[in-house]
Amino acid sequence: MTQGIPKEFWDSRFSEAAPAYGERASRLLLGWSNLISSDCRTALVPACGQGRDAVFLAKLGLSVTAVDVSPVGLRQCSELARRHGVSLSLVEADLFEWDWPEADVDLVAGMFLHVPTGARPGLHERFKRALKPGGYVFLEGFTTEQIRFQETYQSGGPPDAAMLYSADAIRDDFSGLAEISLMTGVETLDEGPYHTGPAALLRAVFQKQDSK
Ligand SMILES: C[S@@+](CC[C@H](N)C(=O)[O-])C[C@H]1O[C@@H](n2cnc3c(N)ncnc32)[C@H](O)[C@@H]1O
Repeated sequence: MTQGIPKEFWDSRFSEAAPAYGERASRLLLGWSNLISSDCRTALVPACGQGRDAVFLAKLGLSVTAVDVSPVGLRQCSELARRHGVSLSLVEADLFEWDWPEADVDLVAGMFLHVPTGARPGLHERFKRALKPGGYVFLEGFTTEQIRFQETYQSGGPPDAAMLYSADAIRDDFSGLAEISLMTGVETLDEGPYHTGPAALLRAVFQKQDSK
């Protein structure tokens, strides 16, 4: 069963006229595109939404599996891929019930997938296990500071601090992986109607160690 925000919420949001989070990839993936192109061949995008990151990774030449609970989002993901001339492997599934791959991909991109605190470490454990040795996790989301920015700017994220990130919690979740980068701070988002305005963000890159 979906934890946190129900599927119907996402279906409804993705039925609106404009892409909820825009069509441009997350700034985290954009910023690391050289490393992704050189080191990665396969990617998993859990909670792909309307497909902006999955399509970007496919355009970099990666073979991409994109998963989401919302069939409405997945249809738009498919349409975005078609418009960009790339193909994706799309899966409609609840990530808490899905049969996740093991040691299968070079990259997992978890963008703005906010779930209740108790469910988050187990979900991130799945990210880690899905990676091949040497593979990368790219993670972006809102920090607990975002509650303040939501009140003033409505710049995105669930209005529940328990679903937002802290650097310590994310470091704990990905302990055992090398921390390549972890940044928190305030930036003005410009990613569609639901990610617009000053926002408190966390962006992180972790790498699974090569097995010796
Ligand atoms: C805030 S949106 C982010 C979408 C996309 N990652 C992006 O940044 O554009 C959160 C996404 O998580 C998906 N989601 C939430 N809970 C899920 C679950 N349990 N299983 C699969 N997808 C889920 C929603 O359907 C939605 O597409």
